[in-house]
Amino acid sequence: MSKKLKLGIFGFGVVGQGLHDIIRTKALNFEIVKFAIKDASKKRTLPAELFTTDKNEILNNAEINTIVELINDPVAAFDIVKRALTSGKNVVSASKKMIADNLEELIYLQKQHGTSLLYEGSVCGSIPIIRNLEEYYDNELLHSISGIFNGSSNYILSKVYNEGLDYDTALKQAQDLGFAETDPTSDVGGFDAKYKLVIASAHAYGVVVKPEDVLNIGIQTLSAYDLQYAKEKRLKIKLVPVAKELDDQHVAMFVLPRFVNSDHFLYNVDNEYNGVVVQAAFADQQFFFGKGAGGHPTGSAVLSDIAALRYDYQYEYKKAHEKKDLKFTNDIELNVYVRYEDESLIEALAFDYIHERFYSGNFRFVIGTIKLKNLIANQSRISAEGAFVACTGDLKEIKLHVLTDLATEVL
Ligand code: HSE
Repeated sequence: MSKKLKLGIFGFGVVGQGLHDIIRTKALNFEIVKFAIKDASKKRTLPAELFTTDKNEILNNAEINTIVELINDPVAAFDIVKRALTSGKNVVSASKKMIADNLEELIYLQKQHGTSLLYEGSVCGSIPIIRNLEEYYDNELLHSISGIFNGSSNYILSKVYNEGLDYDTALKQAQDLGFAETDPTSDVGGFDAKYKLVIASAHAYGVVVKPEDVLNIGIQTLSAYDLQYAKEKRLKIKLVPVAKELDDQHVAMFVLPRFVNSDHFLYNVDNEYNGVVVQAAFADQQFFFGKGAGGHPTGSAVLSDIAALRYDYQYEYKKAHEKKDLKFTNDIELNVYVRYEDESLIEALAFDYIHERFYSGNFRFVIGTIKLKNLIANQSRISAEGAFVACTGDLKEIKLHVLTDLATEVL
């Protein structure tokens, strides 16, 4: 039986307004009691009595049984969500950093207090990936999940590649369109995509990983040389988070730019669109496509979560509860292109194998097989020197490197 929801909504920004637009067009069994906002002086499109700047007015209101958290401060968001879950209110949130940073505690709080936290809108905007990983694939072995999880960086990559726009203009457009985070470093540096990967992996593999343990290298150092290389080879550059099960004990995760050819599902995922590629043992390869950013697309995912709470839907974290010894590892090797200036960076990266070297004027690159740990160790140097790293090849080529490391330890 559908229960009547009384909503307290935190945030009236791009997603909050998008959600309100959608709700007011529908006859649904819920009512917005109040919005909590930060800045009371901003002109709003709704009557003033619908707003408050006092979070306690919502959190202490016994009439409100459901909290929708859509603010952009992850620390304040965690406080709100924690208080709500602890006091018997169900929550819908779209704060990916807050969720990824605190996932273990959030899972515990839900269990402890019998409350539900849903967050479809936090991962890939309008694409219903979390509910599918949680429900549809609950009995499937997933070899990998990967894709385009950030609309802003994909918008920039599409505009510079397809239309020859310069990077800063494309970024400004992504900001003006309301796609980018308050600090766009999160988008272009691959942090936002990493938070989403961490959340998705908890449902795909039952492995809860701290974001700081996962490598993210973004697109900030993209240059005309990298675009030239991609165009000559008829490839596109995409920022791709990957979670891959390596064997029945190890799962690897990382976010790196990737060259994709025209046969790849992600090749035609442009602008603010996102795409998720699921490689499953029995279903084989499947592809989800949809808008990854923007008020209405993200609002639609938030609405779907609110609607699910009318029936007290909860994530069960089924894969986390299976008795499985799957652990996160960075002990992998993968094939990458590194465009660089200083030869000593290539020495420091200590490629296991170099497949190709190119040198012409200031354009120098190496393509080869490298340990992920060597990229992690040199991450700040790569960024400081303006080097650009992108994966080449297929996800199948990503291999566990544990045996070599053990051998080194024995020596
Ligand atoms: N800044 C995010 C993006 C918003 O560009 O994908 C949606 O999470």
